[in-house]
Amino acid sequence: MGIPQPAFYIFKCEQSAPPGFPKPSCVNSQNPESVELFQYLAQKLMEKGLIGTVQPVRTGCLNRCQLGPVMLVEPGHYMYVGLNKEKIDKIIEEHIIRGNPVEEYLIPQEYWDEPILPKDIVNSGE
Ligand code: FES
Repeated sequence: MGIPQPAFYIFKCEQSAPPGFPKPSCVNSQNPESVELFQYLAQKLMEKGLIGTVQPVRTGCLNRCQLGPVMLVEPGHYMYVGLNKEKIDKIIEEHIIRGNPVEEYLIPQEYWDEPILPKDIVNSGE
């Protein structure tokens, strides 16, 4: 038997911006909790013995900065927005363990429309 794949990847946006920077960012000093969220997520997964089958990944900007802090759960393209520790707890319990995405924390549909496939972009120029 081979080494099992992770069941989930959780991409947590860790993009920060200097104080006074005009664009919002997921990790910023106006929201002190935002600085702790990745560590909190990893710690919770570790406590439950889920690290390995759930792989938390620090990532740069996921391009939904105005709704931050955000994290993307794969598979499934589940984008969670406005995160705090309480929401992370619920997402781990409901989505990661029980398999039910937490609808009320997901990004509103108008910010997360259907993707444009690369083949459609490449082929439109032909
Ligand atoms: S800074 Fe997090 S989505 Fe852009």
